[in-house]
This record gives sequence, C-alpha cells and structure tokens, in this order.
Amino acid sequence: MPTSSRLAVARHATVAVAATALTLLLSGCAFMAVATAPAKPASPTRTALAMQADALFWQTLHSGRYEDIGRALEVQTAAYLENPGDALTAAHAGWLHIWRLAENGRLPQVPATITNDAVMARKYFEEAVRLQPGEARFQGFLGSVLLAEGAIHKDEKLTRRGYYTLLDSVDAWPEFNLFTAGYSMSRQPADSARFKEALQMQWRTLDLCAGEAVNRQDPDFGRYMALATTSGPKRVCWNSWIAPHNFEGFVLNMGDMLVKAGDVATARKIYASARHSPTYGQWKHRALLEQRIAEAAENVAAFSAAVVPGGPKVPDAKRLMIHTTVACMACHQQ
Ligand code: HEC
Repeated sequence: MPTSSRLAVARHATVAVAATALTLLLSGCAFMAVATAPAKPASPTRTALAMQADALFWQTLHSGRYEDIGRALEVQTAAYLENPGDALTAAHAGWLHIWRLAENGRLPQVPATITNDAVMARKYFEEAVRLQPGEARFQGFLGSVLLAEGAIHKDEKLTRRGYYTLLDSVDAWPEFNLFTAGYSMSRQPADSARFKEALQMQWRTLDLCAGEAVNRQDPDFGRYMALATTSGPKRVCWNSWIAPHNFEGFVLNMGDMLVKAGDVATARKIYASARHSPTYGQWKHRALLEQRIAEAAENVAAFSAAVVPGGPKVPDAKRLMIHTTVACMACHQQ
C-alpha cells in the first residue's frame, strides 16, 4: 500500500474511533444525568383534596358503582397532580383504572381503548411502589397489572417482569399476595404449569390462614372460622371494612379454579365453605356461588375456554371469576 492511502486508512480509523468515543461520552452523559437526578420524594402529608378523593373512592367501590369510575378518577387524578408524592392517592388512581379494565364486561360495548387502563394502572402502581416500597399490596397489584399489560401487548418481557414482581410480593406478604398472584394467573390454560402453580397458591393461602395444612381432599374450613381477625397480616384472610366479603370472594375464585382444573368434587366443598361466613346472607353475589355449586360439572369446559378480547359476551355464570363483571365486586361490594 502506498504511504498516502495508508495515511487515508489511518485517518478514517481515527475519525471512526473519535465518533464512537463521542457517542459513548454523550450516552454516558445521559446515563449519568438520569442516574444522578434527585429521586422523586414521597410526600409526608396528604391534602384535603386527597381525603375528599378517598371518600369518593370508597363510596364508589363499596357500592359497586362501576358507571361512576370516571367521576371518581377525575377527583383522584386531580388530587394526585396536586401532590404527586402521595403514594396512597397514586395507588387509588391505579385501582380505579384496574377496576374499570377488570369488569369491562359491564359495558354494553367494550372499546379498544379500555386497554389504556392497564397502561395507566401500571404507571400509578409503579409510582406508588417507588414512593412506598414497603407496601406489599401495591407491589402485588403492580405485578398483576404488568401481567395484564404484557398479555394485551403480547410483550413477553413485561409478562416476565410481572411474574417476578408477583413472586417478590408473595415473599413480602404471602397471605395477601398468594391470592393476588394466583388469581392473576388463573387465566392461564388449565393444563399449563403456571395455572397449576396458581391453584397451589390458593391452597397455600388457605394453609397460612388456617395455621396448618388444610385437607386437600376434604377441605372443611368451618373449623377455622374462629381464627378470624381484623388486625395483623392475617386480617386479609377474612372480611373487613375494606373487603366486606373477602372470604366469600376468595372461595368463589378458588372453587372456579378447581372446576377449571376438572376437580368438581373438591370445588363443591370449597364453594360451600362460603356459607360459613357470618355475613353470607348479606352477600350480593350469593346466587352466583349457589348456581356454581349446582352446575360445577357442566362448568368445567366453560371455565377452561380461552377468553379472547372483543370476543362474544358470556354471562358471569359461565365464566371463571376473573373474567366476570364481579372480578373485584365479589369481595369489595358492601
Ligand atoms: C378475594 C377478594 C378480593 C378480590 C377479588 C379483590 N380484592 Fe381488593 N382487597 C382484598 C383484600 C383482602 C384487601 C386488603 C384489605 C386490608 O388491607 O385489610 C384488598 C385491598 C384492596 C384495596 C385497598 C385500598 C386501601 O386503601 O387500603 C383496594 C382499593 C382494592 N383491594 C381494590 C380491588 C380491585 C380494584 C379489585 C379488582 C381488580 C380487587 N380489589 C379484587 C380482597 C379482594
């Protein structure tokens, strides 16, 4: 090679190295700038508007006024914008979005944009977890909504993030999040490893709540009802002001999952344990459960059927609980 062309090659190489270095420097700058930005601070106080939003939130949720979610969300969002460091306000906004998504079967026509509620719920639960990392309920709902978002966008990375976030949330508060995780995964095909894991999670919840291994063939939960409490981590096993029919809703779902697994006899026993609840008589969704006990055998196929977004409307009686219009209300409606 003549000297001149060797020089040209060398010059090209120098230019290329310099360009690469500059790119690295610039991206390094961006990385450093973001990494050293101050963390968003959690707010030590709650505003008057946040308290007002909470009151409306609970009225709307407890009375099952799905059609008023938009109004409650307007106040909740305004309260968040006024004080974006308020973790509970952020989480409540997330819950309104996830409720609207979860029970969209109530709408006469489901718009494609309903899926934006998953994106918004994820955003708000991410905020809530960042502001209050020790709140395991926020973490559980974040995991659950990541799964929903991953499924909507067919994004395996989101789905896996959701799954591992759920597992972390289970470690943090198993009595609460074993249910959350298993319920979210109840959508998986009946013969999949994930679905089987999800069903095990419901049994593990019962074991923790009972304080011993519950008999898998003959689960008689009646004998544990005296353990009911409204304080400590085990409060989430029972009914409370927040979730007035948590126990009934829990067994409704677990019975459904057993039916989906084809275990009709055990499903009937689990469903029937709802009758041990002292407030079973006041539960608005009692008829749905009683119908399931009667129709358990014929529901095996219906509950295993894949649910496609935008697919035909199916009545709640023929849908797995997570796909019904009472996916939240079974536990939270007064
Ligand atoms: C199996 C019953 C059950 C189902 C189904 C259920 N929850 Fe809950 N939920 C609970 C329990 C139990 C708690 C925790 C109560 C506690 O902390 O004492 C809870 C906590 C909450 C809270 C707590 C808020 C706060 O300020 O403390 C909200 C909001 C909520 N759930 C909304 C929902 C929504 C929305 C859905 C549907 C996507 C849903 N839940 C599904 C039982 C249920």
